[in-house]
Amino acid sequence: MNLTFGDIEETALIPLAIKASESERQSPRIIDKKAKEIIDALGVDVSKYDPFLSHEGVISRTIMFRDKLNELIKEYPDALYINLGCGFDDKFSQVDNGKITWFDVDLPDQIEKRKKVYTDRDRCKMLGGSALDGKWTKNLPQNDMTIVVMEGVLEYFQKEQVKTCLNMLCDSFKHGYLLAELHSPLLEKYGSKHHDAVKYTNATFGWGTKSAEEYLPLEPRMSVISEQSYNDEMKKYSLRGKIFAIVGKNFNNRLAVFRW
Ligand SMILES: C[S@@+](CC[C@H](N)C(=O)[O-])C[C@H]1O[C@@H](n2cnc3c(N)ncnc32)[C@H](O)[C@@H]1O
Repeated sequence: MNLTFGDIEETALIPLAIKASESERQSPRIIDKKAKEIIDALGVDVSKYDPFLSHEGVISRTIMFRDKLNELIKEYPDALYINLGCGFDDKFSQVDNGKITWFDVDLPDQIEKRKKVYTDRDRCKMLGGSALDGKWTKNLPQNDMTIVVMEGVLEYFQKEQVKTCLNMLCDSFKHGYLLAELHSPLLEKYGSKHHDAVKYTNATFGWGTKSAEEYLPLEPRMSVISEQSYNDEMKKYSLRGKIFAIVGKNFNNRLAVFRW
């Protein structure tokens, strides 16, 4: 693997560092062999990207996205699955039932870097494309149902970009579900400087919302199916997680599921 530190955008290093360190724990809640392989190959100290709250948040969201995807895969085994803004994430391996068709999509530059670490698999292919422009969707197999995952991506978009992305999804795919990570207006306002891991990067948080319902005027073809705070998972594991679920009730990110 000829990956260097500069190949990985810092915001994508955060989930990788966290999933790699969790995988090494005695009783890991998730095991991500690929994240560990990538972090080991980089051979640099990434501990600053792995503070307690971010660690618990990323592990919780990984579990929540996985469980929600597993539910949808049971219901729609023949749908088209897309991880949009996939970074270096290996979600396909976590949920593959031996049958699903999956595309890992990210900006062309990022896909070039991903190709240093991954090769296309039978039912899991990589594709360069933007969440803000639907040209790449023309290269996908036709399907009546498309399930799109956007984990750690919309958080960095401004409101107008979120609208462009939602419109693009509804224009490009006949019916679908979007599993998206949403964040609060508090994180938009203070998060870029004070988030315990993102403060080490140059990233700035985009448009924050209190509720997924705020997305609907941007794309009336969508409806909200569910919305759940990461606190619901985080509070299961530690006293600090329980306390944060109370103190940071409106602060933590959420998994929202939309349908169109
Ligand atoms: C914080 S990383 C998250 C990666 C991955 N989803 C995860 O959870 O590990 C954000 C990703 O969004 C991608 N991204 C940013 N803008 C994008 C766009 N317009 N279209 C597609 N991907 C984009 C970045 O290249 C990066 O890989």
